Amino acid sequence: MICAVALLFGHGATAVAQTRLRPDNIDQVVREMTLEEKCHLVLGCGMGFGRDVKFPGTAGSSYAIPRLGIPSTYCADSNQGLRMSAHRDFDSRDYFCTDYMTSIALASTWDKKAAFTVGKGIGNETKEYGLDWILAPSMNLMRNVLCGRNHEYYSEDPYLSGTMAAYCVKGIQSEGTAACVKHFAANSQETNRNANDSRVSQRALRELYLRGFELAVRIGNPWTVMTAYNSINGKATCEDVDLTETILRKEWGFDGLVVSDWNAGKDATLSMLAGNDMLQPGQERQFNQLMEDAKRGRLPMEVLDRNVRRVLQFVVKSHSFAEYPYSNEPDLKQHALDDRVIGAEGMVLLENKATLPLAPGSRVALFGCTSYEIIPGGTGFGGTMVGRYTVSLVEGLRNAGMNVYKPLLDQYKQHVAAEQKRLYPNGLPPFSLRPLNRAEEMDMTDRQVAETAANTDVAVITIGRKSGEAADRTQDEFNLYEKEQTMIKQVSEVYRQAGKKVVVLLNVCSPVETASWKNLVDAIVCTWQSGEQVGNSIADVLSGQVNPSGRLPVTFQNKYGDAASDRNFPSDVKDTKDLATMYMWGGDKQSAKREPKANIDFTDYDEDIYVGYRYFDSFNKPVSYPFGYGLSYTTFAYENAKMTRKGAEYVVTVDVVNTGSRAGRNVVELFVAAPKGKLLNKPSKELKDYAKTELLQPGQRETVELMVEVRDLASFNEKASAWVVDAGTYRFMLASSSSHVEKTLSVKVDGMKTKVDNVMKPTVKLHLLRR
Ligand code: BGC
Repeated sequence: MICAVALLFGHGATAVAQTRLRPDNIDQVVREMTLEEKCHLVLGCGMGFGRDVKFPGTAGSSYAIPRLGIPSTYCADSNQGLRMSAHRDFDSRDYFCTDYMTSIALASTWDKKAAFTVGKGIGNETKEYGLDWILAPSMNLMRNVLCGRNHEYYSEDPYLSGTMAAYCVKGIQSEGTAACVKHFAANSQETNRNANDSRVSQRALRELYLRGFELAVRIGNPWTVMTAYNSINGKATCEDVDLTETILRKEWGFDGLVVSDWNAGKDATLSMLAGNDMLQPGQERQFNQLMEDAKRGRLPMEVLDRNVRRVLQFVVKSHSFAEYPYSNEPDLKQHALDDRVIGAEGMVLLENKATLPLAPGSRVALFGCTSYEIIPGGTGFGGTMVGRYTVSLVEGLRNAGMNVYKPLLDQYKQHVAAEQKRLYPNGLPPFSLRPLNRAEEMDMTDRQVAETAANTDVAVITIGRKSGEAADRTQDEFNLYEKEQTMIKQVSEVYRQAGKKVVVLLNVCSPVETASWKNLVDAIVCTWQSGEQVGNSIADVLSGQVNPSGRLPVTFQNKYGDAASDRNFPSDVKDTKDLATMYMWGGDKQSAKREPKANIDFTDYDEDIYVGYRYFDSFNKPVSYPFGYGLSYTTFAYENAKMTRKGAEYVVTVDVVNTGSRAGRNVVELFVAAPKGKLLNKPSKELKDYAKTELLQPGQRETVELMVEVRDLASFNEKASAWVVDAGTYRFMLASSSSHVEKTLSVKVDGMKTKVDNVMKPTVKLHLLRR
């Protein structure tokens, strides 16, 4: 022992050997920590914006205690790629990261492997640039089409969201990088985002808003979960012990770290008690409060120690703890290729009247400002910090051998430049904040359009919408602006007269109105925003290099007002600045001084479980394009559908046959309709699994397998506080969208009941929608 001390401290050292953190001595390290050290460790160390920190432009770090061998760990956003400044002071090299597609685009692939690949790429860049932890995936349910962060989320359906998130987590963590599933939970709007209270039934919470997280935790096993800014039924999510300790940990078995959203919550001690183990980015006032409350006993030492232990369990898994020799050289080329391929696979062919794919060498007239300023992703922390590059649509089409009509391009170049000057007289805002979608469309005479039509084979019109953190979209942004409508009408009339076709590209963050104009055009592709390779991905689909196989993860409703949640969403908040909703933090400072306002201070989830297709389908409401919808350049047939029971699971197999003349991939969607329960109003069907084939050549077939666990057939019965599988006949439907069932198999199921804690009850009476 004496020798060891001498070795550690050198000759003549008198200091006592220090314990140094190891995975197997965490309790010992906690015992040796001072109160100050513990209170520091459960708080972040500030953000890396505008400061001369190790990783400028990143979200934060954890506290280091060198004397105990505890290193800092480093985290950054987001789903679309590692968000970090590409440039550092006094450093001549750059640190670019891949701008991947938005999450809504990724979910549109309906391909778990694609989610894994993107997650792995982001996890790898995080690791190779020296960080430990990526604040992704975001996975809130798309309750309403106007939510400003929908592009960061996956779907209106919890199964699709939860499984996409789970595979993204698996991908990230396959690199030893920590994933962070967020924002837990019911964080469905940005308006007054720091102070809004989501008032929601226990059933909707369990079946929809928590369900996706439950799947992500159970299947993906994320190392961290981030709570949200909003409250649920009167309690801030980061201060609600029932959400994080009772449901997340006790019920679902989560054993990782819970972190608050940045500056969320008012009372640091309440957050500690609720098992938010680390509060980010950390504030002095929180440190002072924790010290004080620990001394007074309001923050029991066993709670602080528990949280400290969880932080240390996280630290010992980190790259920083392992002193990983990061290269600063991730494989950006391979990741760009992944973005291109997966971006194209997530594009959804909505209409195609014998128009696409375009013939090789087509002469293309590009209309719409967005055609010349294609949008690769969203704004806010969900986007990336600095785009290394974006492949423009013009470049993508040219790469694919198409001829972009130059006189029109020149006109637009001038127009877009003039619009940018008008919108930003002081220069363009930073990449991640640039809302280029507001540019007015150009006025053109019929003669100009006719001349363009005479010299081209096809018109491609791009409609763009961009959104992001801290503000919701307005109804005006959901609808097409007047000039966009005029452009679509004018171009389609003139091209139709010339016997030529018109294609519309929806380069959008979230659904837009399509019902009023879709019949005017010949083809529509919802391209979403597919990252740095966007121009190439779109061109791959237009040219037929990639046969589109994307399906909508969200319903395209006919008009705003049609969805049940539209009645309770801040869709008419015009002056968001007035309500301080545009501010990143601080919430609505005025709220304390006035009567609580509906949809601002609280939002009643009166639509209950009837979100997205669960509403449209159950209430027979027409939509423009249903959930799960998407066309292909080939056709498929389903044969030999069979169902068997294997232990606790139902296994459905079906042969998918490519009956058309082009190679393509197909998504098989499995919905289940439950029998009418004794107490419960059930949606007419719910997605329970999905599978995607490999690329099938004409005539080729593949047997796909889908699985549903018996317990996943349950609905949540509030009276019994239990998950209940009602006994009776269940219909398993193989479908190509929520409104197009191809085959139905029926099975008799025995009843089953699983009790859970009766927590998170609403404190007010909600006027819940019933069938
Ligand atoms: C966002 C989170 C993000 C965090 C750190 C917050 O404003 O809501 O999604 O991870 O900032 O950047």
